[in-house]
Amino acid sequence: MSASRRIILLGPPGAGKGTQAELLAENLGVEHISTGEMLREEVRRGTDLGRKAQGYMDRGELVPDSLIIEMLGGRLGEGFILDGFPRTIEQATALDRLTKLDRALLIGLAQDEVVRRLTARRVCERCGLNYNLLFHPPQVEGVCDVCGGKLIRRNDDNPEAIRRRYRVYQAETAPVKEFYRKRSILAEIDGVRPIEEVFRDALDTLAGSAP
Ligand code: AP5
Repeated sequence: MSASRRIILLGPPGAGKGTQAELLAENLGVEHISTGEMLREEVRRGTDLGRKAQGYMDRGELVPDSLIIEMLGGRLGEGFILDGFPRTIEQATALDRLTKLDRALLIGLAQDEVVRRLTARRVCERCGLNYNLLFHPPQVEGVCDVCGGKLIRRNDDNPEAIRRRYRVYQAETAPVKEFYRKRSILAEIDGVRPIEEVFRDALDTLAGSAP
């Protein structure tokens, strides 16, 4: 069977979607597309879209579907891992019109672990590399091991916004799971294990036949 090349990653905030998407994209030779990263880039550049999106993001709410769908339009090539999209049924329906997916992989994580992980996340403001004070801290506190940039906390990684993001996930994104289960392309893996273990499980799952 040929490997899946059009993949979406679903899961609550902090489940490890970005971490696994990066590893999988490199291993499978496909593009990693993160709508969260695209939006943060728009905010950094101070574009019209960035200005519209920032308030929603900082509060831990979803950016309106119309803005996201427009931003993503035209980005999808032959092989990709979509991280953070779709997050609503409306987005899933729009994606259906753009392409045919091979697999939807859901990484599960309970709320307590989500809060623990995300309050400990730090990101390099220069190169964007992710650290975690609990699981893989930098060698020197506050400084990126790779480029020497300053490590910062994302605006939405405070306990209040994290809890709101988790609630929004349950209300808006959990139904998307059923959307893909009905199409028989959904697989679920447990995200609470070490990064390498989750990665091996993800690769095995994507290499196997659809559930
Ligand atoms: P987005 O950037 O997509 O944020 P998110 O979904 O909340 O996901 P995170 O980036 O917080 O977590 P992740 O699952 O990628 O985990 P990560 O690998 O980083 O979206 C941000 C905002 O943008 C949204 O709230 C919304 O406002 C807007 N937005 C984006 N897309 C949208 C859309 N489609 N529609 C509408 N609005 C949209 O890991 C987290 C931490 O844990 C890191 O420190 C990492 O090092 C660590 N870690 C990862 N895996 C493990 C592991 N196995 N063990 C231990 N630590 C681990």
